[in-house]
Amino acid sequence: MPIPGPTSGLADSYGRVATDLRVSLTDRCNLRCNYCMPAEGLDWLPTEETLTDDEVVRLVRIGVEDLGIREVRFTGGEPLLRRGLAGIVERTKALSPSPEVSLTTNALGLARTAQTLADAGLDRVNVSLDTIDREQFHEITRRDRLHDVLEGLAAAKSAGLTPVKVNAVLLRGVNDRHAPELLSWCLEQGFQLRIIEQMPLDAQHGWSREGMVTAEEIFALLESEFELTPDPEHRGSAPAETFLVDGGPATVGVIASVTRPFCGDCDRVRLTADGQVRNCLFAREESDLRRALRSDATDAEIADQWRLAMMTKRPGHGIDDQTFLQPTRPMSAIGG
Ligand code: GTP
Ligand code: 5AD
Ligand code: SF4
Repeated sequence: MPIPGPTSGLADSYGRVATDLRVSLTDRCNLRCNYCMPAEGLDWLPTEETLTDDEVVRLVRIGVEDLGIREVRFTGGEPLLRRGLAGIVERTKALSPSPEVSLTTNALGLARTAQTLADAGLDRVNVSLDTIDREQFHEITRRDRLHDVLEGLAAAKSAGLTPVKVNAVLLRGVNDRHAPELLSWCLEQGFQLRIIEQMPLDAQHGWSREGMVTAEEIFALLESEFELTPDPEHRGSAPAETFLVDGGPATVGVIASVTRPFCGDCDRVRLTADGQVRNCLFAREESDLRRALRSDATDAEIADQWRLAMMTKRPGHGIDDQTFLQPTRPMSAIGG
C-alpha cells in the first residue's frame, strides 16, 4: 500500500481525492422519520465524547489548510440543534482558502436562525422534506411540524441561502404517488427537488431492496406529469443526477445511490460528532481523530492519520455484494 506523502491531499488507493468534507455536529434529532429512527429515539452520544466547537474547528482547519478540503457541509442528526453552529460556520468560512459552507437540515427552527447563519457566512442549505401534506408529514416524521419546516424554507430563501435544495425520500404506499405534487410545489417556490433512493442505513435495519422506491420508479412517477430531459450541466462528483423539467431551466435531481451508484467519482470524507473519520458512508472502520486531538497530537500528525484513513476506502458501497454488511453507525449518526 502506498504511504501518502507529507504534502498530499486526501487521496485513496483508487486515485479518488476527497475535497468535500461532511461534518456531523450532533447525532440528535427533533424528528423521528420512520425510515431513519425508532419512535423512542436512540442512545445519543455522551457529551464528553462529542467534539467541542474548538475541536471541530481545528479538524476542519486541518482539512482545509493542509489537506485540500474545498467544501464543508455540516450535518447531524439535526445540525440546528448544535448550540455553537453559527460560530462554527463563521470560523469555518474565515479559513483560508475560504471553503463553500452548507448545511443539510430538517429546517425546524431555521425560521429563527436563517439570517444569523447567512450573516455568519453560510452559503446554502439542503432541507429534508418528504411531503407537503400535513397528515403524511406527521405520519412519516412522527411529529406534527410541517408548518415549522415550511417557515424555515421560506426564511432560508429570504436570507439568500440559495440554491435551496429539498431532499425527499419516497416510501411506497405513503408519499410515492405524491411526488409530482411535491415537484410542482418546489418549482413554484424556486426550490430544487432531489428524490433519494433509500439506503440501508436505518437504525432499525428494516431496509429491503424490494421496499425501496427505485430511480426507475421515480422517473415513471415524475414522467406521468412532467417531461424530463438530461441536464447539460456537468455532473462532476454530485450524487444527484439532474434533469430539466419541461425543457428547463428548472431541474429535478434523482440520487440513485443503490441502482445507479456513483462511487467511482466520490470526492467525500466524513467526520462524526465524536471525531471519527469515515472514508465512506458505508465504511466499517473509522479512524479516531478525537483520541489524537486529546492526546496533544500536532496538526501534522493529525493530517497524517487522516490521510492514512483514506487508504482503506473501498471502490464502492457493495450493497449488492453477498457479503454486504450494514455499518453499525446509523445514518442519523453519520449525517448522510
Ligand atoms: P449538494 O452538494 O447540495 O448537491 O448536496 P448533496 O446531495 O451532496 O448532499 P445532501 O446532504 O443534500 O444529501 C442528499 C442525499 O445524498 C442524502 O441521502 C445523502 O445521504 C446522499 N449522499 C450524500 N453524499 C453521498 C455519498 O457520498 N454517497 C452516497 N451514496 N450518498 C450520498
Ligand atoms: N437513505 C437515503 N437517504 C436518507 N436520508 C435519511 N435516511 C436515509 C436513508 N436511509 C436522507 C434524509 C436527508 C439526508 C441527510 O438523508 O432525508 O435528506
Ligand atoms: Fe462515496 Fe461511499 Fe457514497 Fe460511494 S457510498 S459515493 S464511496 S461515500
